[in-house]
Amino acid sequence: MEPFPWRDAWQQALYGASGFYRRADGPARHFTTSSHHPLGAVFAEGVLALADREHATHVVDVGAGRGELVTALHRLRPGLRLTGVDVVERPPGLPADVAWLVSPGGTDLPDALRNLDDVLVVAHEWLDVVPCTVAEVGPDGALRTVLVDPATGAESLGDPLDGADLAWCTRHAASDALEAGERVEVGRERDLAWAGLLGRIRSGTALAVDYGHTRSTRPPYGTLVGYRDGTTVPPVPDGSCDVTAHVAVDSLEQDERLTQREALLGLGLAATAPPIALARTDPPAYLAGLARASAVTALTARDGLGDFHWVLRRIAAPVPTGRAPGAAH
Ligand SMILES: C[S@@+](CC[C@H](N)C(=O)[O-])C[C@H]1O[C@@H](n2cnc3c(N)ncnc32)[C@H](O)[C@@H]1O
Repeated sequence: MEPFPWRDAWQQALYGASGFYRRADGPARHFTTSSHHPLGAVFAEGVLALADREHATHVVDVGAGRGELVTALHRLRPGLRLTGVDVVERPPGLPADVAWLVSPGGTDLPDALRNLDDVLVVAHEWLDVVPCTVAEVGPDGALRTVLVDPATGAESLGDPLDGADLAWCTRHAASDALEAGERVEVGRERDLAWAGLLGRIRSGTALAVDYGHTRSTRPPYGTLVGYRDGTTVPPVPDGSCDVTAHVAVDSLEQDERLTQREALLGLGLAATAPPIALARTDPPAYLAGLARASAVTALTARDGLGDFHWVLRRIAAPVPTGRAPGAAH
């Protein structure tokens, strides 16, 4: 088959008519995230604490999978306005008062998602599946687009990178100093996707949670990988597996960035074991307390989920224009 730039092959593989994310089985069948069982209920506590801190009255989950996070939030606070957004139709079993929007996928968002007020928008592991250009320094020293055969995953080098992608690499990846064979997963498409999401918010906070790197920690040979049935597989963009690459979190528009460990501990989650006496008086409560403590430990673990990045961007309500009644000339 003819090779395509990674970004195009990846978009087709995940969001094309028979793309990986359109399959009935859903992401949780293939990999586990913080929003899945057994961590999801405790992770939702952290999200809810953030929503309260940011005075949000509506939580929108972009890249909502099969509604795991919005369902957990609904369980914790049944009256809270909730909306899930993903590329599939409304999942069966979603609580009736949780809204659902179908999205095109990748960088694009549904038209109906706009003018959001007093909102917390959560994009949990969304940006890592927004397809981006992959570039590699060729033997001639030029940074070139990497092409891929969708059927086999075999790669070849295409034209030299130019335009906005090259400008991104110069600014964010020290691309002038890269050696032959080194790669850049160009973050521009994720920056645009994130900016597009911010543009849907009139007032509120956006939170991206993802694995990623910053300018001084970009992996020199890239991070592209596939996931299927709970294991990593070669990233062949044929629709049979997830294809993901870490996010350049420092190039996203932001007000604050911290690790998930800092974020959740700062929001009041603690891995405190229940008192042993509870085991005698209320064994189910004791076991639930132990499970909760071990979930907090997993969500905040070093070299694990605790190293995920939380990127926050706050958007203030627009100040009404026009002169206030009685204002001086
Ligand atoms: C890695 S999964 C994460 C699912 C869930 N947030 C979690 O953490 O378990 C990425 C999800 O993002 C969804 N997605 C990708 N692009 C999207 C878009 N533009 N709008 C809404 N959902 C999108 C995919 O369909 C997929 O369900």
